[in-house]
Amino acid sequence: MKKRPVILDCDPGHDDAIALMLALSSKELDVRLITVSAGNSTIERTTLNALRIVSFLDKQVEVAAGARKPLRRVVIPDVETHGESGLDGPVLPEPKFSASSRNALDAQADVLKRSESKVTIIPTGPLTNIALLLSVYPELKDKIDRIVLMGGACFGGNWLPNAEFNIMIDPEAADIVFRSGVPVTMCGLDVTLKAQIFPAEFDIFRRMPNRTGPLVAELLDFFHKSTTPPFMAAPGHEEGAHMHDVCAVAWVLAPELFVSRHLNVQIETVSELTLGCTVVDYNNVFKLQPNADVCFDIDRKGFLDLLTSGISSLP
Ligand code: RIB
Ligand code: CA
Repeated sequence: MKKRPVILDCDPGHDDAIALMLALSSKELDVRLITVSAGNSTIERTTLNALRIVSFLDKQVEVAAGARKPLRRVVIPDVETHGESGLDGPVLPEPKFSASSRNALDAQADVLKRSESKVTIIPTGPLTNIALLLSVYPELKDKIDRIVLMGGACFGGNWLPNAEFNIMIDPEAADIVFRSGVPVTMCGLDVTLKAQIFPAEFDIFRRMPNRTGPLVAELLDFFHKSTTPPFMAAPGHEEGAHMHDVCAVAWVLAPELFVSRHLNVQIETVSELTLGCTVVDYNNVFKLQPNADVCFDIDRKGFLDLLTSGISSLP
């Protein structure tokens, strides 16, 4: 079966790291390139973290560093959630290879130009690199099959009451992506907060006989402790670890696990109060052309099975 060519754009980040592992475990995906953004930590640290993960898995994939800051604003690394290194908790060996000599923009453009078929782009951090690609090489839009991103929310937010971190860090970049005309799947907080792994399930990974399972358990241990207080927890219900970024890769592998609606999404880029809000027109009030498949629900057990099967197949 022909493998699906993909480019991953990430800011590892604990959940980015697990998303990378799932993508690299899949026999259905041809990961042509990994590009890195600044968000969970500085570009130096997120790039080093991406290299560490790829090395740890004994994979050979080009890792190219991207923009060190959003298009117009400053980056506020999410030290609270991911720690100083951006991947605190487990001790990962130093990478066996360096970052690409090409920057993300040149590498992405080259992969798209050379690809014999359309490429799926899976961003799991701020969208700066993708906005630059679409702006500098608009003619390459036709080589992009779909942008399947983790970001935004129809209802609520995390870093602001109505804005999610990835979009809020670079709202101008998100605006470019959602206006681009390229098909978009939006895995926002509406679905990612339901894509939880509960502490009792961490041992599924801890007990795996390979080295990657226990690493995932350590990442979950840290991420679960550091994640912002549960805002979906019902009384007496222990909130699990939210696998935000893993949803984007899972959607590419198994879209049938998700429930989504084709809606119009606009990005707030002016108001300080709601900066980065993904204004999802759930009731089609504006009667505008839908521009994204917005995910709202997930088969959590199927998601967990997909992840455990992927992780158990890694070294
Ligand atoms: O809001 C969740 C997003 O912010 C995830 O991509 C996580 O890695 C952080 O970057
Ligand atoms: Ca991320």
